[in-house]
Amino acid sequence: MRLLLAGLACLGWLALVGGTLWRHRLHQAAPVAPGAVLVIYASQTGTAAGLAKATAEALEVSGRSVALRSLAAVTPVMLVQAGEALLIAATTGEGDAPDDAAGFLARFHAAKPDLSGLHYAVLALGDTHYRHFCAFGHALDRLLHDAGAVPVADLVEVDQGDAGALRHWQQNLRLFGASAALPDWESPRYRRWVLAGRELLNPGSAGGPMYRITLTCEGEMPGWAAGDIAEVYPGSAEEAFLPKPPLPHRDYSLSTVPQEGELGLVVRLFRDEQGRSGLGSGFLCETAEIGAGVALRIRSNPRFHTPASRVPLVLIGNGTGISSLRAHLKAREPGTSNWLIYGERDPLHDRPFAAELEGWQRSGHLARLDLAFSRAEEGLYVQDEVRRVADMLRVWVSGDAAILLCGSVAMGEGVDAALREVLGEAEVNEMLVQGRYSRDIY
Ligand SMILES: Cc1cc2nc3c(=O)[nH]c(=O)nc-3n(C[C@H](O)[C@H](O)[C@H](O)COP(=O)(O)OP(=O)(O)OC[C@H]3O[C@@H](n4cnc5c(N)ncnc54)[C@H](O)[C@@H]3O)c2cc1C
Ligand SMILES: Cc1cc2nc3c(=O)[nH]c(=O)nc-3n(C[C@H](O)[C@H](O)[C@H](O)COP(=O)(O)O)c2cc1C
Repeated sequence: MRLLLAGLACLGWLALVGGTLWRHRLHQAAPVAPGAVLVIYASQTGTAAGLAKATAEALEVSGRSVALRSLAAVTPVMLVQAGEALLIAATTGEGDAPDDAAGFLARFHAAKPDLSGLHYAVLALGDTHYRHFCAFGHALDRLLHDAGAVPVADLVEVDQGDAGALRHWQQNLRLFGASAALPDWESPRYRRWVLAGRELLNPGSAGGPMYRITLTCEGEMPGWAAGDIAEVYPGSAEEAFLPKPPLPHRDYSLSTVPQEGELGLVVRLFRDEQGRSGLGSGFLCETAEIGAGVALRIRSNPRFHTPASRVPLVLIGNGTGISSLRAHLKAREPGTSNWLIYGERDPLHDRPFAAELEGWQRSGHLARLDLAFSRAEEGLYVQDEVRRVADMLRVWVSGDAAILLCGSVAMGEGVDAALREVLGEAEVNEMLVQGRYSRDIY
C-alpha cells in the first residue's frame, strides 16, 4: 500500500512538473500569414535547420513575408493554403527521413491533399559516401510533385555542405523574390582554438581508448548550447584557413556548456584492422600537441537542445554518447528531475565521468542512474536496461518527461525498438513529433 501511495504521489508530482507543455516549439503551430513563403526544414543534426534559417532571412531582407517551420509542425492544410514553399531536407540513417518527418508523412498520406496551387523547390542535403544519396529530399520532392505541386526549380543536391551547390540554391531563391544583390553564403568559418588538455577516460579498458579533450578559445568565446556539435578540422589549423582546406571535417558532440569557460569533447580513438588511426580521432587523441591550434566551428543542433521547460528528462546513451548527455545534465536547472541510463563495456574500466555522476546522484540532480555493462557477468546492453526499467519509464513519460538519446547507431536502433515496446508505437511517434524524443546517433 505504501508503495502504491508513493507511486501515485510520484505520478502526481511528475504530472505537475511536466504540465508545462513544450512552449518553445508551440510557435511552430501558429497559422501561416497569407502571402508568406513557407520555409520548411527536416533536419537531424542541425544543418538543414541552419540553412532554412538563412533561406528565410534572405527572403525577409528582400521584403518577403516568411513562415519558418520544422516539417514536424507542417500540416497538409498548411501546404494547400500556402502559395509557395521551400523545403530543406537532410537524409539520415540508410536513406531515411530525419525524425522531424515522422508525423508529417502519416498526416500527408492520410489527407492526400491536392497541392496544385503550390509552387515549391527542394534543397536536399546528403553525403555521397552513403548509398542512398539525398534520398529523403528526393522522396519529398516526389511526394509534392505527385500531389500536384509545381516545382519552380529542379531539386538541388548538396554533398557535404558543398558551397557551389549552396550558391545554386541561393540563385533559386531569386525565383521566390530574394534580391540578386545578396552576398554569397560562405560555408561557416573555422575559429582557432587551443588544445588545452587530453585525459584518458578509460585506462585499462579492453575497448578503444576514450579521451576527454579540452579546448580553450583565443579571443572571445562563442556561445553554444548542450546538444550542439563541434566540426573539427583534422589537421593543422593553418591549413584549415586556406581557401579550400584539403581535408573534410569530423563531427564531435560538445560535452561542456560555455559557462565552464572551455569546450569539451569525448573522443574515441578509431583504429582500422591494420591498426591505422582514424583521421579525426587520431588527430585529436594522438597527433595534435597540447598547446597546438585546432580549427573548429560549432554547429547548432536545435533538435537536440536541452528542453527549455522544467519537464523531467530521461537521458539515454552509450560510449562517447556520454559527451552530450553530460552537457545536458550540466545545463539542466537545479531542482529538475533527471535520469541517466548509460551503457559501456566493463564496470571496472569503462566509467567515464564517474565522480561527477555520483556527485550529481548524491545532490539529487540525478534522480536515477542506471548503468548497463555488456561485459559484466549479467551482460546488459542499454536496450536491455530500458526494458528492465520499463515501469518507471512509463511513469516518467506519463509525467511529460522528454527523452534524449545519444551514441552509436546499433545502440540507438536497439533503444528505439525497446522504447516502442515499452511505451507503444503511437506514444513514441507522438513524442518524436512534439520534439519530446530526440536522437543524436552516429
Ligand atoms: C553528429 C555526430 C556526432 C558525433 N559525436 C562523436 C563524439 O562525441 N565522439 C566520438 O568519438 N565520435 C563522434 N562522432 C563520430 C566522429 O565524427 C568520427 O566519425 C569518428 O571519430 C571516426 O572518425 P575518424 O576520422 O577518426 O576515422 P575515419 O578516418 O573517418 O575512419 C573511420 C572509418 O570510417 C570510414 N569512413 C570515413 N569517412 C566515411 C564516410 N563519410 N562514410 C562512410 N565511411 C566513412 C573509414 O574508411 C574508416 O573505416 C560523431 C559523429 C556524428 C555524425
Ligand atoms: C548517421 C548519419 C546518416 C546519414 N545517412 C545519409 C544517407 O543515407 N544519405 C545521404 O545522402 N546522406 C546521409 N547523411 C548525411 C547527412 O544527410 C548530411 O550530413 C546532412 O547535411 C545532415 O543535415 P542535418 O544536420 O540537418 O541533419 C547521414 C549523416 C549521418 C550523421
